[in-house]
Amino acid sequence: MNAAPHPFEFFIVCPIGFEEIQHQELITTASELNLNVLESKKLKGGIEVQTNDRHFVTIIPYLKVATRVLLRLTSFKVRDFPKLYNKVKKFNWGPYLYRADQIDILVTLRKSRLIHSGRAKDSIEKAIGEWLKGNPRKKISDSAAIQKIYFHIEEDLCQVSIDLCGSPLYQRENKNQGAIAPIRENLASGLIQWTLSKLNIDQASTSTEPEKKLTFIDPMCGSGTFIFEAARLKTPNTNKNLSAHYIPATKVEFQKVCQNTSRNIFSEFIGIDQNQFFSDKRLELENVSFISKSYKKVIQDLPKNAVFVFNPPYGKRIKIIGERVDFYQNVIGDMASMDAKAIGMIVPDEVPLKIKMNNYQQEVLRFKNGGLAVKFILLIKNEPAT
Ligand SMILES: C[S@@+](CC[C@H](N)C(=O)[O-])C[C@H]1O[C@@H](n2cnc3c(N)ncnc32)[C@H](O)[C@@H]1O
Repeated sequence: MNAAPHPFEFFIVCPIGFEEIQHQELITTASELNLNVLESKKLKGGIEVQTNDRHFVTIIPYLKVATRVLLRLTSFKVRDFPKLYNKVKKFNWGPYLYRADQIDILVTLRKSRLIHSGRAKDSIEKAIGEWLKGNPRKKISDSAAIQKIYFHIEEDLCQVSIDLCGSPLYQRENKNQGAIAPIRENLASGLIQWTLSKLNIDQASTSTEPEKKLTFIDPMCGSGTFIFEAARLKTPNTNKNLSAHYIPATKVEFQKVCQNTSRNIFSEFIGIDQNQFFSDKRLELENVSFISKSYKKVIQDLPKNAVFVFNPPYGKRIKIIGERVDFYQNVIGDMASMDAKAIGMIVPDEVPLKIKMNNYQQEVLRFKNGGLAVKFILLIKNEPAT
């Protein structure tokens, strides 16, 4: 490990409600990649990380729950606009700015003497513009990610962070087109990781082969987001054009990213849907089958002891015949009849679903899916004591 003289501070932004899952992903992945974390703290909507490891940025393509990762640059007291302008103009942006155009300044104010975020943004833009006049940037590729700089001013303390990502991390470059109500990729990955943690499956194992035969099934897979995320859980997203590739302070370390460290937790994957959205996409993945039918027609032929994770229709964009409670109850009963090892299903939070099954333990995780309050109901089969 290559230690830096002062610790770096990062902030990993994740969906609200997924902080514990994100924290677990950070700790597991850092240990797998041999990255040293000095301290990590869960905050609402993200994890603050202190590290003295220069290579910490190489974790980014492995973080599947995160929305983006920020590097904290500096903080200073500020109570008026001239001070803000001067502080920003005098800061040494050299290690961080790789472009002179397409710089997105994002300002948030809280309990501060400065109460006008638009004016604060103007002062910051002018100050950076002045700095750039004396420090022109080298020409970079047209496809380089835009730069985002965050200024959060709370109780007169301005915290400045730079985004290491560009486009949000949940936008995978291999995204499916044309699905109805697809789940966001980072939510899907987080729910699979949560399911594995409740099954006590070691996600930090270093073996490149799945430990046991474990089938992952999405019986209503739509465009196959859950299957894709389950199959690529331990595969880094290397085809994203991240800001960290270009930022002078991170680009050298970032070039070392992604040796071939991918491995599988599941041994096979089955996607089922009446729609055809997943039909071609699955060909990009190994050990994936797709059945284009109602799951009801094939349930009896599915492997026993599998992990089912899915996002059924909510009865809004995709209609449900009959009462929603009955529909969901029925689906769970079908999975349980196949002796499922785990059944994880997202339903609208307002649906008063009461599940009682003697041989399953129940856990619930609440979050927002596309702005709608939902719950992920997870049933874990009681295993006989060995
Ligand atoms: C909310 S969408 C799932 C979206 C998916 N998670 C994704 O990311 O693209 C619900 C899906 O359930 C499918 N569906 C509904 N009833 C089904 C059934 N009985 N068998 C198989 N698929 C079904 C619909 O065709 C639809 O694609």
